[in-house]
Amino acid sequence: MSQFLDHLKPFATELDGFLKDLLDKKLNIDNELKDSIIYSSIGSGKRIRGYLSCEIADFFHADKSDALKLASAIELIHTYSLIHDDLPALDNDDYRRNKPSNHKQFSESTAILSGDALQSLAFEILSDKMEIIDANKQLKLINHLSNNIGPNGMIGGQIIDLNSKENQLSIDEVNVMHNLKTANLFSFSCQSGAIIGNANDKEVDAFENYGRNFGIVFQIIDDVLDKIGDPENIGKTLGKDEINQNKTYLNFYSIEECFEIAGKYSEKAINSLNIFDQLPEVFINALDFIKSRKF
Ligand code: IPE
Ligand code: IPE
Ligand code: MG
Ligand code: MG
Ligand code: MG
Repeated sequence: MSQFLDHLKPFATELDGFLKDLLDKKLNIDNELKDSIIYSSIGSGKRIRGYLSCEIADFFHADKSDALKLASAIELIHTYSLIHDDLPALDNDDYRRNKPSNHKQFSESTAILSGDALQSLAFEILSDKMEIIDANKQLKLINHLSNNIGPNGMIGGQIIDLNSKENQLSIDEVNVMHNLKTANLFSFSCQSGAIIGNANDKEVDAFENYGRNFGIVFQIIDDVLDKIGDPENIGKTLGKDEINQNKTYLNFYSIEECFEIAGKYSEKAINSLNIFDQLPEVFINALDFIKSRKF
């Protein structure tokens, strides 16, 4: 795990620097909204989605600055989803990324607006002029991203999650929820890295599949960590799923079974990439990290 972190951490620092410059250029305001956007967007978060996107872009020799713009857009969308996820109307979580959640640090109204602003900023960044990738490709990315995070994607998953407080879900329904709320953004992150590297359709599909299975592994482990994580490492409130009565893998499986199932999805993710003769170890190491992570 530590070896993988030796790659992920410097990437997170690089992306943070890039994103900070980008936001400084874009935010022509000097008020609480700006402070709140910067507070939640910079200097924290694993950046695993942006990392995957950039690694895959690099595998296909994409332009570095285009890849960092794409990764910035992905991480801004992710941050917006977390700010809104923590609101009292959703998970009511006061702690995120080792500090008070956005609505605790600022206010609920500012948190709602910051999430809104981050979503538009992400699409602005994705549609700004790029170095190499052209407008057609950008349109494709924007179309895929909107699909993956909208009512048929991430937001569709969030509403199933919220409704699951009162309703009993079947394991199939939990799988659908995980797929929508979490795997969709992972899937886009991987697919988009391949798209900006001019990968062919088969290669794009392979990484789309890798990302989808990666995302399922990610959410299973997130459910496990909510139950057995160490508060020192995790940076968010533990036990929230039980308090909120959100349905998770733990309603159906023991911790050991969760790891076993995560292992199966992890194999599926790796098998998705068997069309490639030579594959950098990083795509296997990233999965191992996600399965054994403590945060
Ligand atoms: C948390 O994602 C939200 C889920 C989909 C479970 P991360 O664990 O990647 O959050 P950060 O970006 O590292 O804070
Ligand atoms: C959040 O899932 C998924 C999205 C924000 C789309 P969780 O509610 O399980 O994430 P955490 O545990 O608060 O990070
Ligand atoms: Mg939630
Ligand atoms: Mg939550
Ligand atoms: Mg969770």
